[in-house]
Amino acid sequence: MSDESTPPIHRRRPRYDGKYPRRFEHKYKEHAGARYADTVAKVLAAGKTPAGMHRPIMVTEILEVLTPQPGEVAVDCTLGYGGHARELWRRVQPGGRLIGLDVDPVELPKTAARLAGDGFVAHHSNFAGLPKVLVAEQLTGADVILADLGVSSMQLDDPARGFTMKADGPLDMRMNPQRGQPASALLQRTTPTKLAALLTENADEPNATSLARLLAGQSVTTTRQLAEAVRNAGGDDDTVRRVFQALRIAVNDELSALDAWLRIVPACLNPGGRVAVLTFHSGEDRRVKKAFESGKLAGSYAAIAEEVIRPSPAERRDNPRSGSAKLRWARRG
Ligand SMILES: C[S@@+](CC[C@H](N)C(=O)[O-])C[C@H]1O[C@@H](n2cnc3c(N)ncnc32)[C@H](O)[C@@H]1O
Repeated sequence: MSDESTPPIHRRRPRYDGKYPRRFEHKYKEHAGARYADTVAKVLAAGKTPAGMHRPIMVTEILEVLTPQPGEVAVDCTLGYGGHARELWRRVQPGGRLIGLDVDPVELPKTAARLAGDGFVAHHSNFAGLPKVLVAEQLTGADVILADLGVSSMQLDDPARGFTMKADGPLDMRMNPQRGQPASALLQRTTPTKLAALLTENADEPNATSLARLLAGQSVTTTRQLAEAVRNAGGDDDTVRRVFQALRIAVNDELSALDAWLRIVPACLNPGGRVAVLTFHSGEDRRVKKAFESGKLAGSYAAIAEEVIRPSPAERRDNPRSGSAKLRWARRG
């Protein structure tokens, strides 16, 4: 913070080759999107995601199934950049509340500062801890609950976080870098059998066994080294993408968190409350579909999505990152 007695620190903008910055950290105009709205608009018009931002997916469809109303309590379990949260928040006004959860201690404070206002509160929490968050907020339940699974574009695009196969960085992949082990440690400590199982379970990798034999126990410390190791083993770009996805899911224990959340979510809904989940791969969607179906049979839900809802062709064209998204919903009686 600066006041009148302390002149603002002048930071020299990063140097880069060529006319336009290509590296994530050099895209200073996109990082300061509020000041450079033209640049952001151009990037969006080209079907890309500006550096340091996340484009919310299937917003219209989510609002249609969640029907947030003035005065209601909405929980965004995966706050990210806050795109969905902002829309939910607008619709529960006047008198409503929005609670945002995220495990990422790097992005959460930035989003919390962007959204700051009456009736909004952010919690640094795994969504499996939703019951505790509701207790802390002195709530017995929520009317609207959303989870948009996986990683945000801010996490994915920043090479320093180690999620991307497109640039070099430390092989980390933790959404919360303060907990657990980075992907490099997981790879070094795992066995071929365990690695093959997670490549199959987390990414439907067809060559899981042979890849696991080559990669397990190896010292691979950067994202570029991992991509090269997979290509040297005969894999193509899709194989590299699947290996990155499988490791990311394992490093962050994503499927256990999802299973735990699916178990507790009916009890976190007020009577008549609605929940929606956006998934991005078959391992997630299978779990959500099964949990909603058994919840309906058990009477925890009065209604569930009969069919999965997909992004419109226009959205898939405008934002290729929406391509694999699947939306499901359920309603408590
Ligand atoms: C796809 S992004 C959400 C983007 C958000 N809907 C938006 O409009 O900006 C997923 C977010 O969920 C967070 N996340 C993933 N797993 C989580 C978990 N188990 N508990 C809480 N947050 C989680 C990630 O850190 C990431 O910020």
